[in-house]
Amino acid sequence: MQVRAALPSDVARVGELWRSLEALHAELQPGFFRPPRQAALAAPELVRLLGDRNRLLAVAEVDRHVIGLAHAQLYDTPPLPLLTPKRRAHVDTLIVDLAHRRRGAGRALLDEVGRWARFRGADEVLLTLWDGNEAAQAFYRAVGFHTVNVCMARPTAG
Ligand SMILES: CC(C)(COP(=O)(O)OP(=O)(O)OC[C@H]1O[C@@H](n2cnc3c(N)ncnc32)[C@H](O)[C@@H]1OP(=O)(O)O)[C@@H](O)C(=O)NCCC(=O)NCCS
Repeated sequence: MQVRAALPSDVARVGELWRSLEALHAELQPGFFRPPRQAALAAPELVRLLGDRNRLLAVAEVDRHVIGLAHAQLYDTPPLPLLTPKRRAHVDTLIVDLAHRRRGAGRALLDEVGRWARFRGADEVLLTLWDGNEAAQAFYRAVGFHTVNVCMARPTAG
């Protein structure tokens, strides 16, 4: 298994994996996400993403077949007196093909995000975990993440 930066030629496979994560999120949190209706990533969008120095799209491949991906973006805290100034990499997409899980690809993809982010002056990797995704929670804990925030909701009074 090898991790590398995505290429424009990965568009079909990247779109497929990205879409399956969107479908999972729609299943877990239908109040937030609708099921994907179209290709998750069009070729021009991917080319734009790959040209953005603040974004990383890394893919994991086995026998030259893409089996997983991670997408991260760099953010600096806004200059507010209350906030500790920090640069962070936010991972908003991480998925490994079902047939290739538990072989280290998820860990390797996040390690790549960590190296990329550190090189660009970030000291932390951050992500949002949607409630109900127990497997991902176990995974993130196993690879060193801790909880910094819990977001809660209830319906308005009727
Ligand atoms: C979460 C996900 C990316 C993990 O990828 P992976 O390649 O299977 O993970 P790894 O093989 O690198 O796992 C590293 C460690 O995490 C833990 N782990 C991974 N999956 C786990 C699971 N389902 N249950 C419990 N622990 C798990 C284990 O400790 C594992 O080490 P081990 O296999 O030696 O015991 C993958 O399950 C996935 O794509 N899930 C669906 C999409 C998703 O939920 N993405 C996250 C959205 S926020």
